[in-house]
Amino acid sequence: MRLAHGDVAVRPPRSHDAADWSQVRQRNAAWLQRWEGRPPSSVPAPWVARNSPAVFRATLRTQRREARAGRLLPFVLTVDDRLAGAVTVGGITRGAFDSAHVGYWVDEAVAGRGVMPTALALVLDHCFGQVGLHRVEANVRPENSPSLRVLDKLGFSAEGRHRRYLFIDEAWRDHLAYSLLVEDAPGGVLRALLGGGSPVGPA
Ligand SMILES: CC(C)(COP(=O)(O)OP(=O)(O)OC[C@H]1O[C@@H](n2cnc3c(N)ncnc32)[C@H](O)[C@@H]1OP(=O)(O)O)[C@@H](O)C(=O)NCCC(=O)NCCS
Repeated sequence: MRLAHGDVAVRPPRSHDAADWSQVRQRNAAWLQRWEGRPPSSVPAPWVARNSPAVFRATLRTQRREARAGRLLPFVLTVDDRLAGAVTVGGITRGAFDSAHVGYWVDEAVAGRGVMPTALALVLDHCFGQVGLHRVEANVRPENSPSLRVLDKLGFSAEGRHRRYLFIDEAWRDHLAYSLLVEDAPGGVLRALLGGGSPVGPA
């Protein structure tokens, strides 16, 4: 499956993405490191080791297992068919909740061109359409203004603050809680982003 708009596309990761993924991640160490969590109990391995092709392949095996269990939807993001980031829909819970949360990053070389809003809109439309979710959450550090801006562009609503939510950059960090509901963009998230119908604002 491949979802695309213009030069931006998302698709499931494949094992032969390992070298490209590792190369982009190594180049973006300073750009990504301060926003990414790790288990607090472990001694942090160097960025180079945490982002090797072997780590990609091991992560992919876990992701495929989780995806088969219906709990995860992993995507790589491409710009002009070159790997330039990722979007991961995790914590998928069905039943009366029908909810998930989303995480994302892009290569600094393509930042500021609306790549992530487009990629997320494609993924959110898939989640609300084919997957049948009702709600997608995003949790962002208050300091991460580019990420907050992305959620704003997509019509996410602020819901509160998670205290000391994730262990990032050597400390437990508060996160702001946001969500988008299927009812917020009745004509589709991408369509609303492109100006074809505004998302419904916060209730
Ligand atoms: C958050 C992130 C995914 C945004 O992706 P993007 O494709 O650049 O999104 P946009 O193009 O819509 O830019 C969003 C905002 O980033 C800021 N921005 C623009 N160019 C930028 C640049 N070169 N560097 C940093 N921020 C920039 C602007 O405020 C922009 O808002 P604007 O369009 O109103 O000017 C990206 O900054 C990123 O990967 N950051 C590091 C990882 C991360 O924070 N992940 C999310 C954790 S919650």
